[in-house]
Amino acid sequence: MFLTMPSSAALFLCLINICLLASLPSAEDATVFYNFEVSYITASPLGVPQQVIAINKLFPGPTINTTTNNYVVVNVRNKLDEDLLIHWSGVQQRRSSWQDGVLGTNCPIPPKWNWTYQFQVKDQIGGFFYFPSLNFQRAAGGFGGFVINNRPIISIPFDTPYGDIEVFIGDWYTRNHTDLREALDAGKDLGMPDGVLINGKGPYRYNDTLVPEGIDYETIEVHPGKTYRLRVHNVGVSTSLNFRIQNHNLLLAESEGSYTVQQNYTSLDIHVGQSYTFLVTMDQNASTDYYIVASARFVNESIWQRVTGVAILRYTNSKGKAAGPLPDAPDDQYDKTFSMNQARSIRWNVSASGARPNPQGSFKYGSINVTDIYVLRNKPPEKINGKRRATLNGISFVNPATPIRLADWFKVKGTYKLDFPAKPITGPPRAETSVINGTFRGFMEIILQNNDTKMHTYHLDGYAFFVVGMDYGEWSNNSRGTYNKWDGIARATTQVYPGAWTAILVSLDNVGVWNLRTENLDSWYLGQETYIRVVNPEATNKTELPIPDNALFCGALSKMQKPQDISSAPSHGASELRLFFTFLMFACTFFSFFQ
Ligand SMILES: *[C@@H]1O[C@H](CO)[C@@H](O)[C@H](O)[C@H]1NC(C)=O
Ligand SMILES: *[C@@H]1O[C@H](CO)[C@@H](O)[C@H](O)[C@H]1NC(C)=O
Ligand SMILES: *[C@@H]1O[C@H](CO)[C@@H](O)[C@H](O)[C@H]1NC(C)=O
Ligand SMILES: *[C@@H]1O[C@H](CO)[C@@H](O)[C@H](O)[C@H]1NC(C)=O
Ligand SMILES: *[C@@H]1O[C@H](CO)[C@@H](O)[C@H](O)[C@H]1NC(C)=O
Ligand SMILES: *[C@@H]1O[C@H](CO)[C@@H](O)[C@H](O)[C@H]1NC(C)=O
Ligand SMILES: *[C@@H]1O[C@H](CO)[C@@H](O)[C@H](O)[C@H]1NC(C)=O
Ligand SMILES: *[C@@H]1O[C@H](CO)[C@@H](O)[C@H](O)[C@H]1NC(C)=O
Ligand SMILES: *[C@@H]1O[C@H](CO)[C@@H](O)[C@H](O)[C@H]1NC(C)=O
Ligand SMILES: *[C@@H]1O[C@H](CO)[C@@H](O)[C@H](O)[C@H]1NC(C)=O
Ligand SMILES: *[C@@H]1O[C@H](CO)[C@@H](O)[C@H](O)[C@H]1NC(C)=O
Ligand SMILES: *[C@@H]1O[C@H](CO)[C@@H](O)[C@H](O)[C@H]1NC(C)=O
Repeated sequence: MFLTMPSSAALFLCLINICLLASLPSAEDATVFYNFEVSYITASPLGVPQQVIAINKLFPGPTINTTTNNYVVVNVRNKLDEDLLIHWSGVQQRRSSWQDGVLGTNCPIPPKWNWTYQFQVKDQIGGFFYFPSLNFQRAAGGFGGFVINNRPIISIPFDTPYGDIEVFIGDWYTRNHTDLREALDAGKDLGMPDGVLINGKGPYRYNDTLVPEGIDYETIEVHPGKTYRLRVHNVGVSTSLNFRIQNHNLLLAESEGSYTVQQNYTSLDIHVGQSYTFLVTMDQNASTDYYIVASARFVNESIWQRVTGVAILRYTNSKGKAAGPLPDAPDDQYDKTFSMNQARSIRWNVSASGARPNPQGSFKYGSINVTDIYVLRNKPPEKINGKRRATLNGISFVNPATPIRLADWFKVKGTYKLDFPAKPITGPPRAETSVINGTFRGFMEIILQNNDTKMHTYHLDGYAFFVVGMDYGEWSNNSRGTYNKWDGIARATTQVYPGAWTAILVSLDNVGVWNLRTENLDSWYLGQETYIRVVNPEATNKTELPIPDNALFCGALSKMQKPQDISSAPSHGASELRLFFTFLMFACTFFSFFQ
């Protein structure tokens, strides 16, 4: 797709680019800097004091605000007592799985150390979130928003909203994440969560019996008549949540990097790991405040009543408190297709522009021939060598001591196998470091078959995939006849209903090693994940950036790791200048790719 040019010409353009960067920084070239200090704080979101992970003492953490093609530098300082990696969920890290923040590509940041992520948010728009990917830490917080705005030259398919609001919903346990981990290690289930948090806060006291006194709740203040953009993320452990705002329509506009066909919903099911952007017009009379609700789905509601998040939407001219019953959840106990039909109704706006000026639909995924097919089947957790584990196709993933991407770069043999089965294995389940052999520039069809009794969501790093179909029962070749080959949504996280399948298509154009996992945190912790390794057979640095010069080493490569001077106080000035020049070089490398 990109023509190559003589390297002298590329160098020349590169120098011009450096001049441009140095003299007139444009929105596109801009670098955004963030410092993240990750530490424990004590908070009592459900009235019980507990240890929570905060970023710069904030829970949820600060929102990273970027624009398409920006360079992003995040210096992460680990003040926890355990290893840390921050993962940028849905942010594609094009050509640089080095920055993905999962154990298959990065060595963890040890306690008291810091590590600087540097990447470009290339050819992307949308509302995403970040979270700590190791050791069940997400159950303790550490998450925050990640926004990629359109470049000013590309208009968004709706009027600019009056304001932007980030909303994090998620189930929550009052046990800390080490306790939760111990329960899983001991082969136990985590049981029912203790509540649902909205923006790190417990429920508004809508019912004196159900909600104890003295809980701090979230209040979102708005101006009457205005339209706001709400970016809602399910950052929880395992509970699907129904999201709704009393008396207000949710106009769905974007999801994980794609503009959708705009449709009103009175409520939407948001599964673990998913992000949705809604436009909400404050068109009510403000006779009272309004409830914002996130309630557990597909469970016995009379038992799960306390697992309900309630926040308050307050107009500046509000005449009183919210009172009375919450707005109803969907009444579909006997209609298991209701939620699935809602999911199917979410479609791609093929004529809207995404990150590039051409319409999203100009990538005609429906007419591309599939090169690889994987049917991935999960099961409820089962024992492997006496330990309770979770599997995909009968394989429970074991993280390698040396990350796969690093092992490849330094030619360390035997850390993983490239033999992930394309179909469920028939023999007994195994615990292995087994990885999918992706074909560079191939077009992969993945069928996710949920043979567990609970809801799952699956996420693929490095890519957006097309959700082309889902249905109950066993997938078969004939199921392809039902695929949406025209306006299936491109996203990074899809739900798979219990006893059902979801089919996705993905164009393997991003070189690297990419995590494919369930977002259900307990199943993930128990090994329900793998990686897709995509290698360009041609030796070139054009399709993948070389290893960053600050890479951390571990496992078989741990001797290469220099100790970090953890006593040194953060210094500014010189180091930022150095980063700036690193980025000029970085930008330069990118620039020459596109000639
Ligand atoms: C995010 O960045 C854009 C572009 O720099 C800016 O216009 C906008 O005000 C920022 N938003 C927030 C919430 O800071
Ligand atoms: C750690 O942070 C300091 C500034 O706070 C920075 O100068 C240094 O480069 C960082 N170290 C790494 C390895 O990222
Ligand atoms: C799709 O996007 C186009 C182009 O921005 C916009 O005009 C149109 O209203 C959108 N259609 C729907 C149904 O959302
Ligand atoms: C987690 O909670 C347990 C008690 O339930 C406590 O013993 C332990 O110290 C806590 N861990 C941390 C890291 O706070
Ligand atoms: C509060 O919840 C309890 C338990 O579900 C219910 O019996 C009671 O009617 C509710 N109170 C109000 C005022 O709605
Ligand atoms: C969505 O609902 C609002 C009222 O809240 C209405 O004004 C608008 O026309 C509806 N949009 C669509 C696409 O149905
Ligand atoms: C405000 O709207 C509510 C709900 O639509 C309605 O019940 C109420 O009568 C209205 N109040 C006034 C003062 O218009
Ligand atoms: C939900 O739980 C309640 C209380 O245990 C029980 O009486 C009821 O039958 C359950 N409902 C369903 C649909 O299982
Ligand atoms: C897809 O495969 C068919 C049959 O093998 C072939 O005729 C067609 O040209 C291929 N399409 C593309 C876009 O490669
Ligand atoms: C992986 O796939 C490539 C083709 O994409 C093939 O050449 C290679 O032999 C495969 N490797 C293994 C170990 O199967
Ligand atoms: C799991 O698979 C078995 C065998 O195909 C089937 O009988 C069972 O109904 C499936 N269960 C679910 C929940 O999909
Ligand atoms: C890619 O970059 C690395 C590090 O900068 C360099 O050592 C290597 O020779 C480059 N490879 C090619 C094929 O240009």
